[in-house]
Amino acid sequence: MSCQVTLTPSGHQFNAKEGETLLESAMRAGLSLPYGCRNGACGACKGTVVSGQVRHGDHQPSALTDEEQAAGKALFCCAYPETDVTLEVREVLSGKDIPVKTLPCRVQKIEKPADDVAVLFLKLPATERLQFMAGQYIDVLMKDGKRRSFSLANAPHDDEFLQLHVRHVAGGSFSDYVFSSMKEREILRFNGPLGTFYLREDSTKPIIFIASGTGFAPIKGIVEHALHEGCDRQMVFYWGARQPKDLYMFDLALKWQAENPNLTFIPVVSDATPEDNWQGRTGFVHEAVLEDFKDLSGYQVYACGAPVVVEAAHTSFTKTRNLPEDEFFSDAFFLAKDLKPKA
Ligand code: FES
Repeated sequence: MSCQVTLTPSGHQFNAKEGETLLESAMRAGLSLPYGCRNGACGACKGTVVSGQVRHGDHQPSALTDEEQAAGKALFCCAYPETDVTLEVREVLSGKDIPVKTLPCRVQKIEKPADDVAVLFLKLPATERLQFMAGQYIDVLMKDGKRRSFSLANAPHDDEFLQLHVRHVAGGSFSDYVFSSMKEREILRFNGPLGTFYLREDSTKPIIFIASGTGFAPIKGIVEHALHEGCDRQMVFYWGARQPKDLYMFDLALKWQAENPNLTFIPVVSDATPEDNWQGRTGFVHEAVLEDFKDLSGYQVYACGAPVVVEAAHTSFTKTRNLPEDEFFSDAFFLAKDLKPKA
């Protein structure tokens, strides 16, 4: 049996399946409600049941008191609808609506998909979840007090582990550490989520994604989120790198394309050697977009990676292809000497 859930004041409606919490069914419907631990401990998901009946699952008394329950409050992460219900809740509409936290995490797994790229899988304590918008980043807090910013490469629906893509930069203290001595099961601390690089879901415009190098990380999160939500906007993903080996998750991008008729993947390589036997596009990644699109006035562009690439894309698309200034979204990765270093 499924129950219909109506949110107020937005008026959004969706069905909750048997055995699904109110929060789970809202997330499956692509709606973002506030949450923290997702197991009845923190109270971040608390809202009001305006009409209908819910069953309150296991939770900490401190997160929802008996008085609150009697007054119609519920923790949506562990409450199950028993009838059609109307809930009063403030939906998360942008990154600004999400609390920024400082949390510990364990490095559960380290993979090296390329010689100079490490993928870190971070596990939060069992009582914590990080709410974020796909494409946002976190700051890893180092022991010397410095911060290193890394984009989240996983989508929010796939949050058992937070995924970071770390490129080895010679002399970069954190990346040197990751490549020389970081061990699995180590504990890190981070602050986040941060940033405004996320998919504007209120638009129906077709999308061009541009990534250079590990600028792939937040694009991966955004694309996986969009596909999970059943987004039917046209998406063209350009991934630029010096050499084919730098396209370190090439097969994943090919798989997106094979499984989604609305997504096209265009890898672009600038310095292929004869031994690479590269058959694909060559040159700079933003130039490939300029060759393919004469008018971007009806598009949104999301660009991430080296500042020179992001800037070249911004200038050329807005100046020569009519891309509206406010339809260009970017996250540039700066190196350690800059204020906000990124992967
Ligand atoms: S998200 Fe923490 S109590 Fe529901």
